[in-house]
Amino acid sequence: MKFAKSSFLLLSLTLAFAGLRAQFLNPLFIPDTLTGPVFNLTLAPSYVNFLAGDSTVTHGINQPYLGPTLIFQRGDTVQMHVTNNLTDTTTMHWHGMHVAPEDDGGPHTFIPPNTTWSPSFVIDDEATTHWYHPHLHGHTAEQVYKGAAGMIIVRDAHEASLNLPRTYGVDDFPIIIQDKSFDATNQLIFAAMADTIAINGTLGAFLSVPAQMVRFRLLNGSNQRVYNVGFPTNLPVFQIASDGGLLEAPVPVNTVLLAPGERAQVVVNFGGQNGNNYPFPSLNSTMPPGISGGPGGPGGLPGNPLDSADFILMEFRVNPQTPNPVTSLPTSLNTYVKPSLSNVDRTRIKIMDADPNGFPYYINSTPFNHMVINDTVIKDNIEVWTLINTTDVAHPFHIHDIQFYITELNGSPPPAPMAGRKDVVLVQPGDTISFIGEFTDFVDSVIPYMYHCHNLFHEDAGMMGQFIVVEASWVGREKEIARANGYKLYPNPARDRVRLEVNADHGGTIHQLEVLDIQGKALMRQQYQSAREASLDVSGLTPGMYLLRVQDESGQTATLRMLKR
Ligand code: C2O
Ligand code: CU
Ligand code: CU
Repeated sequence: MKFAKSSFLLLSLTLAFAGLRAQFLNPLFIPDTLTGPVFNLTLAPSYVNFLAGDSTVTHGINQPYLGPTLIFQRGDTVQMHVTNNLTDTTTMHWHGMHVAPEDDGGPHTFIPPNTTWSPSFVIDDEATTHWYHPHLHGHTAEQVYKGAAGMIIVRDAHEASLNLPRTYGVDDFPIIIQDKSFDATNQLIFAAMADTIAINGTLGAFLSVPAQMVRFRLLNGSNQRVYNVGFPTNLPVFQIASDGGLLEAPVPVNTVLLAPGERAQVVVNFGGQNGNNYPFPSLNSTMPPGISGGPGGPGGLPGNPLDSADFILMEFRVNPQTPNPVTSLPTSLNTYVKPSLSNVDRTRIKIMDADPNGFPYYINSTPFNHMVINDTVIKDNIEVWTLINTTDVAHPFHIHDIQFYITELNGSPPPAPMAGRKDVVLVQPGDTISFIGEFTDFVDSVIPYMYHCHNLFHEDAGMMGQFIVVEASWVGREKEIARANGYKLYPNPARDRVRLEVNADHGGTIHQLEVLDIQGKALMRQQYQSAREASLDVSGLTPGMYLLRVQDESGQTATLRMLKR
């Protein structure tokens, strides 16, 4: 019953590909933009009328499904306020961005229900497309699937000097590709491989585009499904950017293989096409073997009409040209000083393998453990990581903190679209891929960065590791200081007592101090009267990872991570 309904929907989509275009009747939803320097994001339960009949319960960020598009200007200092009005703990990660570990929103930086997390950081990324999503270990897939995610557009002076389409919602569009499954009452079925396409949360979408060069910022926001995005073969199409920035030059493309977490920017020239419609397909029948959604890859329920098939994501309807359209692309987009292979300080090998039972998948046979720092990187080091996939399914490998450059793909240099700045790379069965990256900033001996498979089911099941970046002189040092939003906590790791101090340049005071376990549950709570320092007896805690949440008189909170020996 349940399945019959959603497969009927998909049957309609499939028929549409065969010629019944009339199914793409819903205008594509374009999320509003938010500009800084202060960004207020509120995650809350909501509902959406995806289908006729019952509404679907969702998670939204400032809106019923997905979140606003955040516009960041390189060099700006932004103040984020992320309020969690869900009933579950969450975190908020700025995927692709080069920020300090405490601001990165990884699985250690909890936002318990009815609290606000307020990191502040400098935007230090190339002009590109990033995204934000929860990263609570074990729950990332579920929270993203319900709709807690949004796009980030970073702008900078160099990109602004290029003649490129960049008017949001006019000739520059966010395209967030996801798959959903619905039950008989239109509620989301949390399926690894869902059976209905939603673009920006719109089912059966069409997008009106002007008859000129149009820029699409593609983001695969699906949990597991990979798309082989296809463009009209009779029109000029160029990829201009990969995950972390513009490519050096536009690359003519017909298809873009987009794994979960990956972004690509593509410019399609609809010049002279006014009045024409174009299907925007995903050509998954021709994907290489072993990729989720393609031949020989992990599929969904039997009969899932998206598996190993070509299907339509949405439809383009070409409208008249706007005034002053972009009519040609620059021949050169950007140049980067890439870290050099002759300056490599260290190499690491990450083998994608599996539990002896075949699942879960792991990295170097090691399931993710909150308590274990898998890798210690020395600040300013240049490293080469080699990813070897020994399993029979493809894994999109993602690393926080850095953008990397692929140096080798199975013994060859990468094809042009993969040669640019990246933070996700799809490692296919049997692949050996090496990348080079430089770890230039943000030492923190306590809060780690993550690397993981961006198949969110694999990630949640343990296909993740964590690394810290430290000063060379720190390696092996026991006593470090954790800092967050004007407070410092030491010693850390702690044995019997920890001490919290308000930094001299910070106006706040300590009003309440809580010790939380890594699930966000409060174990200790103490109140203070306008204190500037506090100390806590932690001798009774079992060794492990804890969070210390400090609240000032105005109710502002900061969370520090504490390791108990
Ligand atoms: Cu998209 Cu670890 O993140
Ligand atoms: Cu990330
Ligand atoms: Cu994986």
